[in-house]
Amino acid sequence: MCGIIGYCGPRPASEVLLSGLKRLEYRGYDSSGISIGTGGSLKVFKKEGKISALRNIVPADADGAWGIGHTRWATHGGVNDTNAHPHTDCSGKIAICHNGIIENYLGLKDRLTGEGHEFRTETDSEVIAHLVESFYSGDLEAAVKSTVSLLKGTYGILVMHTDHPDQIIGARNGSPMVLGLGDGEMFIASDVSAMIAHTRQVIYFEDGEVVRLDSKGYEVTDMRNRPVDKKVDNISWELEEMEKGAYPHYMLKEIHEQTESVHRAMSGRFDDDQATAVLGGLNMSERELLGVRRVVIIAAGTSYYAGQVVSYLLESLARIPSSTELASELRYRNPIVEEGTLYFAISQSGETLDTLMAIRELQRKGARVLGICNVVGSTIARESDGGVYIHSGPEIAVASTKAFTSQLTALYLFILKMARMRNMAWPEGQDFIDGLRSIPDLIGRILDGEERIRELAQKYHRVENFLFLGRGLNYPVALEGALKLKEVAYIHAEGYSAAEIKHGPIALINEHTPSLFIVPDDHLREKVLSNMKEIKARKGPVIALCSEGDTDAADIADDVLYVPRCPEEFSPFLMVVPLQLFAYHCALLLGRDVDQPRNLAKSVTVE
Ligand code: F6R
Repeated sequence: MCGIIGYCGPRPASEVLLSGLKRLEYRGYDSSGISIGTGGSLKVFKKEGKISALRNIVPADADGAWGIGHTRWATHGGVNDTNAHPHTDCSGKIAICHNGIIENYLGLKDRLTGEGHEFRTETDSEVIAHLVESFYSGDLEAAVKSTVSLLKGTYGILVMHTDHPDQIIGARNGSPMVLGLGDGEMFIASDVSAMIAHTRQVIYFEDGEVVRLDSKGYEVTDMRNRPVDKKVDNISWELEEMEKGAYPHYMLKEIHEQTESVHRAMSGRFDDDQATAVLGGLNMSERELLGVRRVVIIAAGTSYYAGQVVSYLLESLARIPSSTELASELRYRNPIVEEGTLYFAISQSGETLDTLMAIRELQRKGARVLGICNVVGSTIARESDGGVYIHSGPEIAVASTKAFTSQLTALYLFILKMARMRNMAWPEGQDFIDGLRSIPDLIGRILDGEERIRELAQKYHRVENFLFLGRGLNYPVALEGALKLKEVAYIHAEGYSAAEIKHGPIALINEHTPSLFIVPDDHLREKVLSNMKEIKARKGPVIALCSEGDTDAADIADDVLYVPRCPEEFSPFLMVVPLQLFAYHCALLLGRDVDQPRNLAKSVTVE
């Protein structure tokens, strides 16, 4: 979704901004722009399309000492050069970039138009430039504060003014913003990836904070002008982790990284003597954990499917009632928060607004919400009452892959801990630990068989409709497989419970609509085999994704993909990997933009 960057310092600002925007590309965008201050005026360059198109229109001599830049993911107004940010006021002295949505912009626009302001774009964001202009009387920070006090909605805003060379004002409410401290230079951006090439020292902002920065320093205040003391954090990611390396796409790299990322998510978190997990970040004593009567997981997209797998297993192994809810729905349902219910919010980015808003609603009602996040220092990680980092390393491809298996890993550790406190005995705890520890190697074996998955993609990538069917723990995996194919290959795919198909979707079956069945060696296998036969009887092509040596499934199916055998509770880890690779290879064969699929954003910071 929209990305923002600002820079004050001795380097040519345009280069810092353009390379920073390049690193924000992965968030998803459709146009971009920069504004740089030079010789008492502002130069603004905006372009629809990729950053390379913007780079082409920025002249080599356009360098100023400070500036702001933006990647836009359109919400209000079409995708074109005009609607791209930065936006300027009537005088052309003020430029702003905005990430988020201003919900009351129509009323503000009417008022400003009535006062004589001329609007040039269809965006909600442009009101910010005109509001700052209307409030400005020599103090830019004061004008920004007066402006944001009128705004309803979400924002991360950067503002610059020609009368204040080397100065940027930043303000946030609901949209991420982070300051990067350099030596004689300062960076500000919506995420650390924009500045990681220049600095490791960062400061994360909270809602309601306003920062004034220049190349020499910064000052953070709240809306009542009280100074706020900020903690400086260190980024532990290496720049190389954000590069594609030898891989043609980030998505493929991240799928392959799962041998390592799953290992990282569990490393140092086992207590072998007690056959349990050590999760200090939960900030909960054993006594408090014992008092948990119910676990509710909230999330969106792929993280939601990871949650569904975990809820299923929490009930069956730890015997704790659990459900997973879409954060976007839960928030507006006036949720009932009961004593003894523990909430988890799962979010790779830690910035998904639907999830963040649901957390705030739950916390307002007194709930304890723990976060399962990848991005260290992200808003959800900071606002939750404790949690577990999954330590996947940066996930750059828009389609989430390695985060899913790492989220499972972190929450499987929680299941182990809860089960061991209840009805799981020491030997079963040890078996569970052994099972989890074996996952990275088993994923490695699946990755070794990628060629077979590519062949299957070659055979099926031209179909228009696909069904993904699974049961039990692998029902959410079927949903995730369908989501991946939709997202990156733009093939219509439905994920369904294999049992439910006879209640409706079977009407879709014909010789052109393949069904991929997930058939682990579990207690539902026989039933799934019957469901496969029902499809075959109606001439539907069937692909079986099953355990090595499953000749029954192979006999029914037209095509087979095997994964190594494993205890049934671990099958989601293995079943999801071929589905990720299948979507990747279909997308590749169809010539799709694999890492930045159309219309999608990595970090969804609007509702
Ligand atoms: C799917 C995908 C999205 C995200 C969803 C939640 O490949 O990327 O569905 O899973 O937007 O994002 P996070 O986990 O960052 O909250």
